Amino acid sequence: MLDQLEQQPADALLALIKLHNADPRSDKIDLGVGVYRTGQGETPVFGAIKTAERILVDTQDSKAYLGPEGDMGFVAALMPYIFGKDSPDMGGRIEGMQTPGGTGSLRLALAMAKRAGAKRIVVGNPSWPNHAQICRDLGLDVAEFNHASPDGTADMAGVRKAIAEAQAGDVLMLHGCCHNPTGIDYTQGEWDEIAGMLAGSPMLPLIDMAYQGLGHGMEQDAYGLRRVLVSVPEALISYSCDKNFGLYRDRVGALYVMARDAGDLPAIMSHGHALARANWSQPPDHGGAAVRIVLEDEKLTAQWLDELDQMRTRMRQMRERLAAAGQAGSIDLAPMGQQNGLFSIVGLTGEQVLAIREKHGVYMAGSSRINIAGLTSGNIDKFIDAVADVAG
Ligand SMILES: Cc1ncc(COP(=O)(O)O)c(C=O)c1O
Repeated sequence: MLDQLEQQPADALLALIKLHNADPRSDKIDLGVGVYRTGQGETPVFGAIKTAERILVDTQDSKAYLGPEGDMGFVAALMPYIFGKDSPDMGGRIEGMQTPGGTGSLRLALAMAKRAGAKRIVVGNPSWPNHAQICRDLGLDVAEFNHASPDGTADMAGVRKAIAEAQAGDVLMLHGCCHNPTGIDYTQGEWDEIAGMLAGSPMLPLIDMAYQGLGHGMEQDAYGLRRVLVSVPEALISYSCDKNFGLYRDRVGALYVMARDAGDLPAIMSHGHALARANWSQPPDHGGAAVRIVLEDEKLTAQWLDELDQMRTRMRQMRERLAAAGQAGSIDLAPMGQQNGLFSIVGLTGEQVLAIREKHGVYMAGSSRINIAGLTSGNIDKFIDAVADVAG
């Protein structure tokens, strides 16, 4: 049977890592892979997480199964940060479960939506490629609307049209903050408008929150999500701790469901649990437990928020440097100053992406998406000059 399987295309970003590693130039710049990097090019474990892990090793007395919902202390501890301290469960209408990363949460959310009758997932273009991959794998249709305008802001006409033309059975996938790959988030006014439109729409919102705290701060980055939740009867929220706690390979995430009525939650969540059981049975425990220990301890929480602050500030500084450079050849870098999070799209053609790699050793995705955290005060001028050279 197995010899029937055809070769699948290699993951482009993983292929880029190999190319970068093989490049002997000492001043090469890696803007490909989507992890945070310090000014020294490192992706360290958070100090708060290291301490929490030590506490975990010293105090954990069993590794017996927890169940498909995972560590519910972890799930609860995150809720005030996501949904707000005043009503973290929206009067009992929100319940969550732990998942293997944001990807596991998206997989569960989309499979649950399918069981509930979802036919079409409406996604902005461009989006994180795995959104469409998961949909296709689940046999769900994907419909796209244009996300980004040429001036580097959100294409509101695109999202307005998508909501206006919604049909029953549509799910609207929205990035909560720090849009991947464009860095283009909706402004607060735009979120207000989207929330208002969704209030009268048959669409089920699915909000993918993978970078909270890396745009403007934990509270500010939750504005859109909270705005939508108070306007609609029900929603799905996929959350990742892999970026904002630096836990990438430990696979830490959660799925939250906001139901029309609190009484509907047990039945809805029973589908989440059954789907988890059929996919991975139980989520990995270690990273989620470390996050819980951080969030249950005031000092560790303050330390984590401070570390997150430093990451955000460093990326903001890089964005300001790009914006201040203004024009680099035919490319206007100014909009990057207003964009958020780890990613932005430079706007180079495929040929220019190849040229900047070959001539200058600057590695970025084929779409010209760059990881802002790959830039440092030591390499940013070289990057700007290289863009100006290939896009001259
Ligand atoms: C938009 C978006 N959603 C979800 C994820 C999933 O993150 P993870 O599965 O690593 O927690 C990512 C990761 O790159 C992402 O960019």
